[in-house]
Amino acid sequence: MQVVSISSLKGGVGKTSVTTGLASAALAAGIPTLVVDLDPHADASTALGVSPDDQLDIGRMLRSPRRARLADNVVPSGWVEHARINGSSTGALQAGAARSASSPSVLDVAVGSAYTGIYDRPDLGRRDLRRLSAVLAGAENYELILVDCPPSLNGLTRMAWSASDKVTLVAEPGLFSVAGTERTMRAIQLFRQEFAPKLSPAGIVANRVRSGSAEHAFRLSEMESMFGELLLTPHIPEQANWQQIQGAAHSIHHWPGDSAKNAAGLFDTLLQNLLHPNGLATAGSVRDRSQR
Ligand SMILES: Nc1ncnc2c1ncn2[C@@H]1O[C@H](COP(=O)(O)OP(=O)(O)OP(=O)(O)O)[C@@H](O)[C@H]1O
Ligand SMILES: [Mg+2]
Repeated sequence: MQVVSISSLKGGVGKTSVTTGLASAALAAGIPTLVVDLDPHADASTALGVSPDDQLDIGRMLRSPRRARLADNVVPSGWVEHARINGSSTGALQAGAARSASSPSVLDVAVGSAYTGIYDRPDLGRRDLRRLSAVLAGAENYELILVDCPPSLNGLTRMAWSASDKVTLVAEPGLFSVAGTERTMRAIQLFRQEFAPKLSPAGIVANRVRSGSAEHAFRLSEMESMFGELLLTPHIPEQANWQQIQGAAHSIHHWPGDSAKNAAGLFDTLLQNLLHPNGLATAGSVRDRSQR
């Protein structure tokens, strides 16, 4: 099991979009995945099309982590049903289900709520920082856990980092975002020394890249020289229909049209590069597990 936090100091750069893009790729590949929606705005839960019943949201699970039974309180993403209806990744779904017999679906969500906000303080103590790790002690059925963080380095993001194996940062190729990424990278190093020696920066995803923009090209080359191999490939371009897809609570892999298909392929490769950094994949080289 790998726990990956998706973070940034800056708001609106695409953390939730990258989280859901990776979740979509994981679903298509049949990787049993849990998305933890740690942002009090709960955008990831909305985009993942969850319909909670009487399950506890993640804020309430964090309040009593030892008593919170994660397996009873996760909610399947509505995307699983779309995938079943569309049938395109049925094989992958079955492959995933077979490998996680006790898991009700391949893509589950620990649903976000404003309640998590009580932990988003700058002075969260060591004991509180371990709350998410304690909740995730019941998550061994998943191969991948993606934690969507709020846009700050306060308690919730630090709680996510202490439960994570890797942190992925998201940045737009603009001056302020690049500077924010550098500050966040330093914060990860400090946090690691003090609280989480095994935590590693998985890399930086450049999002909303405009191919014709000279400024974006300049900032990308600046990021390459600043961060080297930590700048992950592929970069995610500005996608015209992204808001429409998110508004419909659909996964990118089940949205019609060539541009969605192209974006889905980029997230397949990004997921592969994130999970297996030494076997770098190039766009188009990643196949669905069910086809192997
Ligand atoms: N690659 C993209 N192409 C087009 N629009 C995008 C892209 N990535 C993100 N967006 C849009 O930008 C907005 C912000 O994205 P998102 O909510 O993913 O950012 P965030 O970092 O999670 O924000 P917050 O800090 O508020 O949590 C959303 O409206 C989203 O649809
Ligand atoms: Mg977000």
